[in-house]
Amino acid sequence: MKLEGKVALVTGSSQGIGQGVVLRLAQAGAKVVINYRSHPEGAEETLAKVAAIGGQCHMAQCPNSSQGYTIKADLGSVTEIRQLIEESIAHFGQLDILVNNAGIEKHAAFWDVTEADYDAVMNVNLKGVFFATQTFVQHLIATQRTGKIINISSVHEELPFPNFTAYCASKGGMKMLTRNLAIELGPLGITINNVAPGAIETPINTKLLNDPAKLGALLKNIPLGRLGQPGDVAALVAFLASSDADYVTGTTFFVDGGLLWNYQEQ
Ligand code: BGC
Repeated sequence: MKLEGKVALVTGSSQGIGQGVVLRLAQAGAKVVINYRSHPEGAEETLAKVAAIGGQCHMAQCPNSSQGYTIKADLGSVTEIRQLIEESIAHFGQLDILVNNAGIEKHAAFWDVTEADYDAVMNVNLKGVFFATQTFVQHLIATQRTGKIINISSVHEELPFPNFTAYCASKGGMKMLTRNLAIELGPLGITINNVAPGAIETPINTKLLNDPAKLGALLKNIPLGRLGQPGDVAALVAFLASSDADYVTGTTFFVDGGLLWNYQEQ
């Protein structure tokens, strides 16, 4: 298995893409830290699925799995981020892969965005990624090891998304963070890449999924004609986390069914 002997931390992995990534990395043999902020039951579900993959027990009967471990932390807080990474290392002895997945979005016209909503989005989506990555890199330097960083960005690191300006600013920032760090971290043997999903069937899109008119219009813009699934994103993350991707850094990979480049004159 490609990730045997590796330990991965996936932020925001109690649901959605994060949960899908944890399962894919676990299938490839990695030990996984499952992080959650407000859904402990989701984190337990992820853990039970990991245990089931490991063949250790049947789901619902496995509160603990030696391949997975859950930790509560708010990625908007640098103090909690540092504790999260310290506890991950204390539990599994090392960290090799960081998947910065936790992210939030808030819908509002630009002129109505509150400072609290702006801060919430930027703190989790950009400040959290910055300091989680910094803490992870400090660990790799201290232990003289290489590692892999994968950021879950969005098509909206390129594509405008009206009424989500703070979200777009955070993902645009993530794009430049990755380009910069590819250069700074390359000499240390650490790679960093972005995986940029389009519309994926996850809880962040609950409103959209329940609005047939909006959903229908969006599907018309997706050349592959369907929403993505967490597994579509997770497969690429698993590749980037493996030694097959040792020479890949500083790049964004879109997983969007063709959505980004689909401009058409009607
Ligand atoms: C957003 C979703 C949106 C999708 C496609 C994602 O980054 O989180 O709300 O549906 O992009 O626009």
